Amino acid sequence: MKIILIGFMGSGKSSVAGKLSNLFNWPVIEMDQLVLEKTKSKNMDALFAKGGELLLRETELALSEEIASFKESIISTGGGVVLNKIILERLKEPKGKIFFLRASFKTLSMRLANDASRPLFKDILEAESLYNFRQPLYLKAADHVIDADQKTVEEIAEEIFQKAR
Ligand code: S3P
Repeated sequence: MKIILIGFMGSGKSSVAGKLSNLFNWPVIEMDQLVLEKTKSKNMDALFAKGGELLLRETELALSEEIASFKESIISTGGGVVLNKIILERLKEPKGKIFFLRASFKTLSMRLANDASRPLFKDILEAESLYNFRQPLYLKAADHVIDADQKTVEEIAEEIFQKAR
């Protein structure tokens, strides 16, 4: 089985994936990291400078084909994978459960206030409208919704661990 974590930037996917990896004893697949490796980019800004958002989305799509065959693993996705149905279908194959880490925009924007590493979170108003646009997509894709606002990384990981078993 695969555990797939989805959610907006700053929702804690990578940190929770690390905890889940210990609980399940499965490896973490960090999609953003693999995208950077595949495109030989040192960070997301460099990737966007090279090929814009299109390069990111094309690389995520190619990567999802490779990940589809993985077995027991924790997949930490980039916040935009819900834009592509094919990626979601591939991630779920053969057996995958999607967990949406839901947090309020207020929480996310406070977390990312001093983090300049995300090209799509540079303008707060644009980020908020992207957040609003994406919420129904995360909900539709999710097998489980985890309210992440008031919980620690450990609590979220434990909740997912119980729900996945
Ligand atoms: C993006 C989210 C980022 C990264 C890229 C675009 C998005 O990943 O893939 O900057 O479209 O939401 P995180 O959700 O891990 O920050």
